[in-house]
Amino acid sequence: MRTLFVVSGGDAPGINTVLAHYTALATAHGDEVFGAQGGLAGVLSGQIVPLTPALLTPWAGQSGSYLLSSRDPVLKQADAREQLAEALIRHSIDNVILFGGDGTLRYVAPLLSEWGIPCIGLPTTIDNDIAGTEQTLGFDSACNYAYQAVDGILATGHALHQRIFILETLGGHTGFLALEVAWGAGAHAVLVPEYPYDNDWLAERLTRMVNRHGYALLVLSEGVSASRTLAEDIFKWTNIRVRDTRLGHAQRGAKPSHGDRALAAYMARLAHQALHDGIQTGTVVVRQGRPLLHEGLLQGYPPRLPARDLYDQINGDER
Ligand code: F6P
Repeated sequence: MRTLFVVSGGDAPGINTVLAHYTALATAHGDEVFGAQGGLAGVLSGQIVPLTPALLTPWAGQSGSYLLSSRDPVLKQADAREQLAEALIRHSIDNVILFGGDGTLRYVAPLLSEWGIPCIGLPTTIDNDIAGTEQTLGFDSACNYAYQAVDGILATGHALHQRIFILETLGGHTGFLALEVAWGAGAHAVLVPEYPYDNDWLAERLTRMVNRHGYALLVLSEGVSASRTLAEDIFKWTNIRVRDTRLGHAQRGAKPSHGDRALAAYMARLAHQALHDGIQTGTVVVRQGRPLLHEGLLQGYPPRLPARDLYDQINGDER
């Protein structure tokens, strides 16, 4: 069996771990593994390289992706189907394993399925916003990374009082990362794009927390529309010093955590098994905490929302 890995969209911690596990497993079973350099655009232009355990093992714990990704919507090209089929035939590829976020799994996986190309999707994004799975590859590492900043902020917040700290996470237009980190960090407030908030409430809550604890920690997602101006606004409203930390893309390039390495090992095994079982289309998902293979496309699930009860508790707790 000859399998091609494609990384599409934003990279995420854990991709290299899957590649290392998979190549080791596949090689032991007499299979061959290849990777596209540059996502689907790389497949169409023939950038297909062999992957081996010797090559990938040193990458298992590295962030980013050994295989370059791409967001180019090349499958929209008129002759994409023929080009893809031709590239796969040229390299005698039997099936594809696709790393991708919401857009990739919603758009690319159905096309490959329609074109009769066996494909297993691996939900991969630090945003954790894919309907139909509880956890995406990379989310746990991105949360872990944020705690380095949280710990530093709590240390200085304790040592020198009278400051409001804002910690901004990535997350695109979703708030899963911000909410999870706020919850784990014991933040005094959290803002996510999915739920509205009131400026007066925010100013009053942060002021009260500074008066009580000496400092206040607000965690917010980059997707909150006011995020760029919030530090200045909060200072105007409260007259308390505001200090702003933005994790930015350093968060996406976080080192893979234990949780993501364990998920990566499941993804590799479940994908390999599925392809050997002759499954045409599938996705490795996490349901009730367990990684498993979802047969068929990941369609028809309602969009996920950050847990409202946690959001209300963080913002409502009398602390
Ligand atoms: O991959 C998801 C994500 O990291 C989001 O959290 C973030 O908003 C976005 O990608 C950033 O995309 P780009 O790297 O294109 O700036």
